Amino acid sequence: MKQAEKLVFENPQAVAAAFAEKLLSWIPEEGPYHIALSGGSTPKLLFRLLAKSYIDKLPWDRIHFWWGDERCVPPGDPESNFGVTHDLLLSRLNIPAENVHRIRGEDEPEVAAKKYSDEIKKIIPVSEHLPVFNLIILGMGDDGHTASIFPYQLHLLESPNICEVATHPDSGQKRVTLTGRVINAAARVAFLVTGVTKAERAREIFRQEDEARRYPAAYISPEEGELCWFLDKAAAAGI
Ligand code: 6PG
Repeated sequence: MKQAEKLVFENPQAVAAAFAEKLLSWIPEEGPYHIALSGGSTPKLLFRLLAKSYIDKLPWDRIHFWWGDERCVPPGDPESNFGVTHDLLLSRLNIPAENVHRIRGEDEPEVAAKKYSDEIKKIIPVSEHLPVFNLIILGMGDDGHTASIFPYQLHLLESPNICEVATHPDSGQKRVTLTGRVINAAARVAFLVTGVTKAERAREIFRQEDEARRYPAAYISPEEGELCWFLDKAAAAGI
């Protein structure tokens, strides 16, 4: 497993700005680029920035949008990760509809998971029997969850399936999430982690403390791909 690259910036806005510039450098001159997006607060800053300042800088017609996880709610629900991305970014882009691969949160969770898994199998290139996303963007919850793999469901890290139905530990909300093996098969994984509430988890993970064994985010380490953590100073305070 490769050592994680750690990039620390002044504040969440600077994290989003730095990530946007890195994204520009990562996308090759030709061919499709498959990105799985995350929900959460820092990605919202990124989506707003991309919509404001990168409309003419990125090859949007070659970028395919996927999600690392989705809440099982209709796309128009404020909780929908697709809905947030659509409102802040996708609605401002003139991209082919077939480049947007949302998880159908309005369907029965198991049905949505199956449909999404089938679409991934059909479109995403495969290596060693696993789909290889060009880039997976992740956040980390205050409890160390990532995507919708929560600490009490660590087994989803090793699931043989491409995605699984998860249940939020507090709200009971059903989610569809990529599984750990698919995340770790990506060519590149980038965590966007900001805010003081993440500092203790980040410290435990980066210092490989025993506590970190409880956190799904600690198990994200691409086999072949690159791993980069983009943090603000508040989240990186203990590292
Ligand atoms: C989701 C996200 C989730 C998120 C973390 C961090 O659907 O909620 O995918 O994994 O990334 O909860 O969220 P914040 O960055 O807002 O703390």
